[in-house]
This record gives sequence, C-alpha cells and structure tokens, in this order.
Amino acid sequence: MSIQLMELPYPENALSPYISAETIKAHHRSHHAGYVKKYNSLIEGTDFASDSLESVLKATVNDADHRSIYQQGAQVWNHNFYWHSMREPVRYDDNVDSELLSYLKNQFGSYEAFIRKFAEIGSKHFGSGWLWLIYNEDKIEIISTSNEQNPLFDQNKEPILTCDLWEHAYYLQYQSNRKEYLENFCLHLINWPFADKNFKSVCK
Ligand SMILES: [Fe+2]
Repeated sequence: MSIQLMELPYPENALSPYISAETIKAHHRSHHAGYVKKYNSLIEGTDFASDSLESVLKATVNDADHRSIYQQGAQVWNHNFYWHSMREPVRYDDNVDSELLSYLKNQFGSYEAFIRKFAEIGSKHFGSGWLWLIYNEDKIEIISTSNEQNPLFDQNKEPILTCDLWEHAYYLQYQSNRKEYLENFCLHLINWPFADKNFKSVCK
C-alpha cells in the first residue's frame, strides 16, 4: 500500500548543534520524502500495491526483477529507524539509565572504547550506507551496510540502532568529517529508551 512520509519524532532544530536544522530539513523533506514518493510510484498498479512496506521488502529482497522497489522501500524503512534512533541531545554520561549502555561498557571495556570502534567502522565504510548495532551470538556487533542494505531483510538480523552514513546526513555541517558526526551521534544523540526496547527484544 502507498506509504506516508513519517513525521519526525522531534522538531527539525531539536538535534542542534550536533545535527543542524538545515541538515534535518533537507534530509527529511527532500531525501526521505523522495524515497517515499518513488516507492509509491513504483508499486502503483502492481501486485504489491495492497501490501505493507515490510511485506514488500521481504518479498523483494532477493528479487532482481523488483530491485528498484526494494531499494526505495528499504531506504524508507532505514530512515524511519534512523529518526527514532536519535532524540534531543542528552549526554550519555548524564544520568542515562540504559541496559544497552551498561552492556556496551562491559563488552567494549568502556563507552569511549565503543565510540572509537563505532566511529572507526563508520569512517572506513566506503561510499554510502548505514551503520548498525545488531545482537549476534551473545554479543553486540557494529556492522555497516552499503547503500540501501538492511540487516533485517538482507541478513535476518534485527537491528538495535542505526546511523545514516550517506553524505546527505552530515555533509552540510561536517563536510567530509564523518568521524566527528559519528562521535557526536554516540555522545549526544542516541535515543537510549528506543535502543533499550530493541535490545531487550532481540536478546531475549
Ligand atoms: Fe539519509
């Protein structure tokens, strides 16, 4: 079925100064909206026209004949998940009560060590894509995927959190300094209640 552009869970200026209102506005109203529009136009009149986005993604993930539908739809899903992965800035060490945060400190030795790894993997990722936290065999993994790829539909692994690595997510403000954008994401923007909910559901 045709889908609507998700409303942001916060005002466009809410993530400032770590992600500017100008960046959020262009990202949400132009890029994310563009994926929604293209997806709707591609499914119109097809067998997918009455199916949910998730059903269409499951059906098309390995279907070369419907590659464009998968690409546009996955980008919509990834952006929805990304907007929820952030909230108005709260420093991670400012009385954040989070099961996931405790787990990360324990697994990586400290939260600072986790940030270094997260920023390193995201900085080394070549080209556009996404940076994810997933839970695999009793530990957290940081993985990057290319372009529209998504761990849930491509690898059957449920994500806990994501960060957009496409240049449109940070270039206006950080230019080519993707590392600083990723560090600020970890230090100030992670939506811990959202990540905790996902963490609890995947490691049960
Ligand atoms: Fe994006």
